[in-house]
Formats: sequence, structure tokens, C-alpha cells
Amino acid sequence: MEKIGFIGLGIMGSRMAMNLQKAGYDLVIYNRTYEKAQSLVENGATWASTPGEVAGKVNVLITMLSTPGVVQEMTLGEQGFLHSLSKGSLWVNCSTVNPSFSRETEILSRPHHVRYLDAPVVGTKGPAEAGELLFLVGGAERDKKEVDVLFDSMGKKTLHLGAVGQAAAMKMLINQLLAQSVAAFAEALVMGEAMGLDQATLFDVLTATPVVAPVINALGPKLKKGDYEANFPLKWIQKDLHLSSISAYECGVAAPSLNAAKELYAQAKQQGYGDKDFSALYAFLNHRE
Ligand SMILES: NC(=O)c1ccc[n+]([C@@H]2O[C@H](COP(=O)([O-])OP(=O)(O)OC[C@H]3O[C@@H](n4cnc5c(N)ncnc54)[C@H](OP(=O)(O)O)[C@@H]3O)[C@@H](O)[C@H]2O)c1
Repeated sequence: MEKIGFIGLGIMGSRMAMNLQKAGYDLVIYNRTYEKAQSLVENGATWASTPGEVAGKVNVLITMLSTPGVVQEMTLGEQGFLHSLSKGSLWVNCSTVNPSFSRETEILSRPHHVRYLDAPVVGTKGPAEAGELLFLVGGAERDKKEVDVLFDSMGKKTLHLGAVGQAAAMKMLINQLLAQSVAAFAEALVMGEAMGLDQATLFDVLTATPVVAPVINALGPKLKKGDYEANFPLKWIQKDLHLSSISAYECGVAAPSLNAAKELYAQAKQQGYGDKDFSALYAFLNHRE
């Protein structure tokens, strides 16, 4: 089997890379913080000291980095990989970025003869670990087909949504609905408790109605225990809302409730909740001096 490059080994990337290893792939990996890559190296992955060094050793490269700015830095920065990928290589960007960034990135890849897929994922730490992510893919069908086998090793389903940028567009919508659903429920929970209803009753009654999003059932145990160890860091959902807001502006659509949610998460981040799970928005809203 050919060697696969993997850059960005945080909460999601480390688990996705682990599943590629389990499927028998030889990996060449890079992460800013080496410690997060250690178990992959112990399992046989080749460590590269720069993103460019990864690119020089592979024909397929997966990135799972935090923000568009970081993707840009890892791509075209001083130690970036775009110059080092060989002609005809395929770059699969799984990081959550906005559609226009994805399209611009694909255009920047063309002079290097690098093919580009945007491939954001739906699902958090648990599904990443279990190999049960949903991959949303934008780009050429033949490029997707070439790496379907990799998507199958990391996920349970892959959807081809059209040209580069269309997968990022769908991902924007999913995360804005996620953020808004959690914000609405957290606000109702705080208000219900303030009106004298106990938390268990609120969960039981509200989640049995069709007005509460199903994702609240998945977050219930964390919310009830006040366990805010990050599966999905709050700072990244706030980043996604910002990217959605950019997308709304770019396509000429007003998105008032999206922008209200964005500012709510921004306030929580400002108050120190950024590295906690995004469900900690409830703790932020519930905080009283
Ligand atoms: N967690 C989720 O539930 C989830 C679900 C779907 C999609 N996503 C998306 O997946 C991507 C990764 O998320 P994550 O949850 O895995 O986040 P994470 O644990 O914070 O990992 C972020 C990755 O980006 C790297 N990075 C950050 N800043 C950097 C910089 N300045 N220079 C170089 N590398 C840098 C980190 O390196 P270090 O290890 O050195 O910090 C790490 O590899 C994000 O786009 C996120 O929106 C997350």
C-alpha cells in the first residue's frame, strides 16, 4: 500500500490517522506539537519535522487543521507543503473551512499540479475514534473515487456534493444549525431552572418533544454532569459561525440568528470557555455573580 501523509493530529486528526493505521496504511505525519503524534509513531508512522517533508514522501496528503489561517500557513508558509508535493498528488483537506477559502485554495494548488478535494467531516471525537464519521466531499468525482477507500477506513458514509466548495458549504450549514440548537436549548434550560423546574424534568419533557434537536440527547450526559472536557472545542464552533457569517455575506443573504449565535459563543470564548466543549455554553449562560 502507498504511504499516506497526514498533517494535523489534534482531537480529530489523531483518531482519523489511527484508523488509517488500523486499516494497514503506512503514514507520514506532522503535527505542530509532537506529543500528540507519539502513539502513531510508536505504531509505525514516520515522523516528518516539517509539513514540506511530509509532502515530499507521499502522493496523497490529508490535512485536519484548525482554521483557514492555519491551513494557509501550513500550505504556503515558510515550511509549507504545497511546493513539495509531486505533480499529480492529491490533497484532501478535511479541516472545516469556508467555501470561498476552499475554492481559492484549489486555484492556488493548480500551478503546482496538485489536485484538491474539500472533505470536511460530520461527527465528533467519538465517531472519529470509532471510524464512523460522515465525509462531505467537494471536487472531481474521479479524485474522490481514488480515496474512497481512505474515507471508508475513517468513516461510515461519504457524500459527494459537487464541485470544490460545495462540501464546505454544507458543513457551514450543519455547524450553524448545531450551534444554534445547542444555544437555544441551553438558554431554555437556564430559564427553566430559574422558573423552578428541575433539570432532570426539563431534559425528560423537552427532549421528548419535536421542538428539541436530536443532538441534545447526545450532549445530555455532558450537560447533566457538567463535564466540559472538549470533544468539540467551543472556540472552533465560534470559528465555524464566523466562517458561516462570511459565507452569508458573500452570497448576499442576511443571517441574523446565525450572527446572534456567533456573538453568544464569542462572549463565552472571551470569558474563558474557548478550550472547553461547546456544550459549556450552558455553563456560561448559567453563570451568575
Ligand atoms: N472536534 C470536533 O468535534 C470536530 C468535528 C468536525 C470537524 N472539526 C474540525 O476539524 C478541525 C480540527 O479540529 P480538532 O477538534 O481536531 O481541533 P484541535 O484538537 O484543536 O486540533 C487542531 C489541529 O490544528 C493544529 N494547529 C492549530 N494551530 C496551529 C498553528 N498555528 N500552526 C500549526 N498547527 C496548528 C493543531 O496542532 P497542535 O496539536 O500543535 O495544537 C492540531 O493539529 C477544525 O477545523 C474543526 O473545526 C472538529
